Amino acid sequence: MAIDYSERIPNNVDLSNNKTLQRALENWQPAFLDWWGDMGPEGSPNYDVYLRTAVSVDPTGWAHFDHVKMPDYRWGIFLTPQEQNKKITFGDHKGDDVWQEVPGEYRSTLRRIIVTQGDTEPASVEQQRHLGLTAPSLYDLRNLFQVNVEEGRHLWAMVYLLHAHFGRDGREEGEALLERRSGDADNPRILTAFNEQTPDWLSFFMFTFFTDRDGKYQLASLAESAFDPLARTCKFMLTEEAHHLFVGEQGVGRAIQRTCEVMNELKTDDVARLRAAGVIDLPTLQKYMNFHFSVTSDLYGSEISSNAATYYTTGLKGRFEETKLDDDHKLDNNEYEVMDVAGDKILSRHVAALSALNERLRDDWITDVQAGMDRWNRIVAKTGVNFKFTLPHKGFHRKIGMFADVHVAPDGRLISEAEWTHQHQNWLPTADDRLYVHSLMGRVVEPGKFAGWIAPPSRGINNQPVNFDYVRFN
Ligand SMILES: [Fe+2]
Ligand SMILES: [Fe+2]
Repeated sequence: MAIDYSERIPNNVDLSNNKTLQRALENWQPAFLDWWGDMGPEGSPNYDVYLRTAVSVDPTGWAHFDHVKMPDYRWGIFLTPQEQNKKITFGDHKGDDVWQEVPGEYRSTLRRIIVTQGDTEPASVEQQRHLGLTAPSLYDLRNLFQVNVEEGRHLWAMVYLLHAHFGRDGREEGEALLERRSGDADNPRILTAFNEQTPDWLSFFMFTFFTDRDGKYQLASLAESAFDPLARTCKFMLTEEAHHLFVGEQGVGRAIQRTCEVMNELKTDDVARLRAAGVIDLPTLQKYMNFHFSVTSDLYGSEISSNAATYYTTGLKGRFEETKLDDDHKLDNNEYEVMDVAGDKILSRHVAALSALNERLRDDWITDVQAGMDRWNRIVAKTGVNFKFTLPHKGFHRKIGMFADVHVAPDGRLISEAEWTHQHQNWLPTADDRLYVHSLMGRVVEPGKFAGWIAPPSRGINNQPVNFDYVRFN
């Protein structure tokens, strides 16, 4: 499945044989480039950035690395190969052939799912557009830009589906995706978390660890879809997403490493002394984790959801690794355990599994998040520092679902409004914490040099040395 780069829009979907579609996408392309110019990384159009570009959709060796100017990045349309005789693996249509076209009765629901996913892609580019000005190193700057161009490509992936399968409505949605703006009062992005700011690099690393990981779980469940073009698009997006998760985990891990090193040098865990030394104290890192964990948790929606049940029974959206699960893949008679608030207690109860699919996907994500937290704790343990990061309770700081109207402490206690008011600054970043983190954000662009709050990575990108000139400013 080689990609044709001789065309204006690189693709592996034989675009030149569908002139109408090709023309529609070629009309959208300049609008996309205008959007990138307005809302892409600030001040960056002339930088030469060491980027990877997809050259095939094979699991091995799909990427080509070279210095390119970001506006010249070959954004295009890449789907994993179509499998012959592929069958639907879950829901009411289980065992039927997968759909190459959208069934009329699911048209508006499917369009909404694709638009909601598509909207997050340009949103994150907009959220991150000022970060280049305060990069802690060239290596990190390159990673930011790699994530940004790939989020741009993910927008292409969704707009292709809209254009190819939803006619005029789809083309209009494609335009609207370039018109909404993250954080805009009049025309915001669809999901709340994508209207928050990404004000500093610690937030960026937390976002790519927690929120891009939500992206992974959403894409993985759409990769099971009965609508085959959506499934194949999402499968390839997942290969790109893995790098974003790596950037986040490694970025936070390097901040932890650096702080622990300074704690050992100074033989202290005193926050004021550590801040005077220019590193981010571990309790502040924990607060950032609490914040990003809880805000991202909300993206999965309500614990009990009839929409989620419908998406599943109709075959639009499966579970994480659906085909590896050992059940009937219809779930009519299955149950799932969810938490519930009853008076002054948090209990668990069994509900119909179909109604709890949001919660199930959130739980899959939490398991994955916990594994990453464990790896961070191993970094701490290796330095001999006595500290352990912990995930807050699921109900902590939630705005959506059954915990939205109560206050839950990180340890899972239901607490009063008064206690929350008194304590929340110990659990979530305060204005002072954010100001302090912000004060560390200076621009470091000498190859091989790193800001004082973050350790260098153990190796470079694509076997290049850590002091490689990953970005050339010209
Ligand atoms: Fe993405
Ligand atoms: Fe991503």
